[in-house]
Amino acid sequence: MTSAPLPRLLTEVPGPRSRELARRLRRVESPHVTYLSSDFPIFWDRAEGCLVTDVDGNTFLDMTAAFGVASVGHSHPHVVAAVQAQSQKLLHGMGDVHPSEVKVALCERIAEFVPIPDAQVILGQNGGDAVEAALKTAILATGKRGVLAFEGGYHGLTYGALDATARADFRAPFLPQLGRFTSHLPYGGDLLAIEARLRRGDIGAVLAEPIQGRGGIVVPPPGWLAGLREICDRTGTLLILDEIFTGWGRTGRWFACQSENVVPDILCVGKAMGGGLPLSACVASRPLMACWGESRGEALHTSTFLGNPLACAAALAALAVLEGERLPERAERIGAELAEGLRRLQRSYPTLIRDVRGRGLMLGLEMASPELALQFVPGALAQGLIVLPAGDGRVLEFVPPLVVLPDQIAWCLACLQKIFEKFFTHSPA
Ligand SMILES: Cc1ncc(COP(=O)(O)O)c(C=O)c1O
Repeated sequence: MTSAPLPRLLTEVPGPRSRELARRLRRVESPHVTYLSSDFPIFWDRAEGCLVTDVDGNTFLDMTAAFGVASVGHSHPHVVAAVQAQSQKLLHGMGDVHPSEVKVALCERIAEFVPIPDAQVILGQNGGDAVEAALKTAILATGKRGVLAFEGGYHGLTYGALDATARADFRAPFLPQLGRFTSHLPYGGDLLAIEARLRRGDIGAVLAEPIQGRGGIVVPPPGWLAGLREICDRTGTLLILDEIFTGWGRTGRWFACQSENVVPDILCVGKAMGGGLPLSACVASRPLMACWGESRGEALHTSTFLGNPLACAAALAALAVLEGERLPERAERIGAELAEGLRRLQRSYPTLIRDVRGRGLMLGLEMASPELALQFVPGALAQGLIVLPAGDGRVLEFVPPLVVLPDQIAWCLACLQKIFEKFFTHSPA
């Protein structure tokens, strides 16, 4: 048996080529986009499976799946082959005018996978697009402008999605231009209060993540999602589930809502679906989608790249890999191993690690303070481990490709242990 590929560092991190690219980028990119400092970032050159190689030839273990996208692993050969084959035929089509065959095939596949019966699809390019389409579907179907979303929720940064996203720092500069149609209540909080809010009558849709991702890997109490479904049914409110992060197997089920037997009215998906190409979808049942009416020649909601053939071909291949390699089940199994390892670490460093939580391969390790976690991220990078903070910064996210190998999990845990020993003077309890 060949051993699992593991990180290998050839230079200091970031290496000289990464530093040079950072200098060049600083001149030409708007300054708020990429965080540049002496110990961050590395510039990626290539990636395969769970390993990323930077421009200096250093290899890192990617425990982020690059924002939860690379569920089938980076550059999965089937996805690459599908993109290559499609690129020989048609790179770009006329998504909502003269569509391509791959768009039809992808919409059919999405409809087969999602828990919504008789599903229809509106494709987009990124998660924010799917949320915009969901919000528009909701107002068309209900005639109500109000949306209830949750504290800590993240739904994207385009204006509609930003209205629902609860992060004050993302919203504050743009508040004067926001529609302010969203009310926010505590995530996982009192269902009676939620019902009381919906009974005021101005809200057409509830928008929630089944597990909050960027909000800090927050799992609601058991039964909460099902309770939300019941309240929506009782009050005639649509339930929009944002499974852009949790969807396509990450939490051990195809969709996280299936763990609670909840079927949303509208489902937003993205990230992993495209296998690495930008693609998202808003999905609802045919009767609900009927609120849009038939196209009369101009789509009410579309964009130039809707149903891009390359992205559709990549997605078809990625979904086949997720299914063929039974990656949702794998996420559950490997996730349990990783969670156990993180809990062991918590037992060794109880004053530094407050909590370990999540489901499948969507895990979070809550540190005692955001400062600790923020120190940890470049510290890990310098050891060959790519992790990201979430929530208010105090949570380290562990959301690797679902193909991550047991030896890579073991390497990650050993690396974390080493960092705790090296960077934090507290001795194990
Ligand atoms: C749950 C959720 N919804 C929406 C989005 C927005 O997706 P995008 O960044 O592709 O617009 C994200 C991105 O992290 C997300 O995690």
